[in-house]
Amino acid sequence: MKLAFGKPPWRQQKHWPRMKMRRHKVFLFCTVGLCVISFLHYYKALHYVSLLRELSAPYPNIKSFIVVAGMFWKERTTPLSSSLLKGGQALAMRLSDNEAEDSMELDREMGKDLIAWYDRVQPNHPNRKDAAHNFQLRDDTTPYFVHTKAGALCFRHGTETATPKDGAVREEERAAGQRSILQHQNTAHSPRARPQRGKRLVRCVCRQGWHGPYCGIPTMVQHSNLPTKDRLTPREVPRRVINAINVNHEFDLLHARFHELAQAVDLFLVCESNFTAYGETRSLQFLQLLLNGTYRYVQHKILYVFLDHFPDGGRQNGWIADDYLRTFLTQNGMSRVQGVRPDDVFIINDADEIPAREGVLFLKLFDGWTEPFAIHMRRSLYGFFWKQLGSLEVVSGCTVGMLNAVYENDGIKLRRREYYTMPGFRKYENDTGHILVQWSIGSPVHFAGWHCSWCFSPEGIHLKLISAQNGDFPRWGDYEDKRDLNYIRKLIRTGGWFDGSVQEYPPSDPKEHMYAPKYLLDNFERYRYMLVNTYS
Ligand SMILES: *[C@@H]1O[C@H](CO)[C@@H](O)[C@H](O)[C@H]1NC(C)=O
Ligand SMILES: *[C@@H]1O[C@H](CO)[C@@H](O)[C@H](O)[C@H]1NC(C)=O
Ligand SMILES: *[C@@H]1O[C@H](CO)[C@@H](O)[C@H](O)[C@H]1NC(C)=O
Repeated sequence: MKLAFGKPPWRQQKHWPRMKMRRHKVFLFCTVGLCVISFLHYYKALHYVSLLRELSAPYPNIKSFIVVAGMFWKERTTPLSSSLLKGGQALAMRLSDNEAEDSMELDREMGKDLIAWYDRVQPNHPNRKDAAHNFQLRDDTTPYFVHTKAGALCFRHGTETATPKDGAVREEERAAGQRSILQHQNTAHSPRARPQRGKRLVRCVCRQGWHGPYCGIPTMVQHSNLPTKDRLTPREVPRRVINAINVNHEFDLLHARFHELAQAVDLFLVCESNFTAYGETRSLQFLQLLLNGTYRYVQHKILYVFLDHFPDGGRQNGWIADDYLRTFLTQNGMSRVQGVRPDDVFIINDADEIPAREGVLFLKLFDGWTEPFAIHMRRSLYGFFWKQLGSLEVVSGCTVGMLNAVYENDGIKLRRREYYTMPGFRKYENDTGHILVQWSIGSPVHFAGWHCSWCFSPEGIHLKLISAQNGDFPRWGDYEDKRDLNYIRKLIRTGGWFDGSVQEYPPSDPKEHMYAPKYLLDNFERYRYMLVNTYS
């Protein structure tokens, strides 16, 4: 039910005809784009010559442009890569600007090109371009921990460091930014001589919300049921964190996720299909937004996973379609990640489940927690204002080692909470010496994330209704009166449900702790529709 896929409202395509008016601009962009490519050719000839050769073919096409742009996505966004992206965009626009008069036609044309490209880069495809569609994980060299003057090792963000002396330390750390945390530790202590708890002579002074000898344990972990709280140690090199999601049209929640997690997550696997969960065709809206720069600030951390088929039986039984999305996302996505290590972290969410940054950073920076882990999320309906009772607790992650050995690289198996019945479970415990104990970040009163269901405008809810999978009955999208926008507005206003019931909502207030992801609150006016009940 949550993974409804849908066709775009036509209004989404309004911007295409406008492009025609900008033909001159577009031409200019292309010229600039080609200049940049030639420039690149000069410097990168050795590596990319085969791809660039395509560009000098008589008919330069969108595919080669996007492939080149794609090669840079995984690097940090540089002026170079963004000009390339613009070049690709401009060319895409020109190509789709053919003779076609109709804006629908334009969209279809563009979609075909993009689909053709993604088709080509699927694993096993003979023309697959590794550099363009794989993602190389790298170590995060951010100095998360700092040595205080007195010699304590403290988690920077959780520690009071307001004295000028610490400013000097910070400067020195920044200069050494490329060195690993291990090397930092070497400068003051030998890495194995980390002081034991209780024997520490100097202590970190924790900010509110942070706990433990290193001030790196957030409240949501401190108040969790983690059985090994007294055996947590900072890692010398952070784990890499991979966050996998399927998207349909949760584009605002995606901004919230990316802003919340970009600091803690190394790679977002984002899967989009050209089928709705109901099995009908849909356009690749997320891809279009990715290409037009909507998520520019995080695109170097995104690996796009294109699902181009619908599973057998998915039309009769919607649950098959629903599960298959997670299976494909995990298997296709992870097969394209290079340099992954067994102790890296894999987290799979629905697009409307947003983990809080602090919990994810904890997983990244500490050793000693058990797996798999769930997340207690604050639940709400239609927006953050209809807060629901308790929390939603979803098993969401584990290490990559466990994902492989126990869950057969299948994200849906992870979410099902059945690890102890999985065939690889005992062997993994034996091989690693870990006792697998599931725990949950947060608690029913200390939320570690947000689950905002049906948090769309009325039009978005309508879209979700008609593209919902065929298996979660009653399927409200099948009833005309339930699809009516005025009816949907009434539901938002009253907090009612499609079956006519109204649940009990505890009071909530935008000022309360963990009301909504910070990015949404910081941009209150833009996201007002999710933050306050605009119909009441
Ligand atoms: C989705 O894309 C694939 C591969 O390009 C294509 O074969 C298929 O027909 C498309 N499906 C729909 C519903 O557009
Ligand atoms: C990208 O396209 C979307 C939807 O068509 C539009 O709303 C948005 O403003 C565009 N973004 C940029 C940066 O051009
Ligand atoms: C358990 O691990 C040991 C090595 O640590 C290995 O020799 C043994 O075969 C393993 N047993 C099982 C059932 O996997």
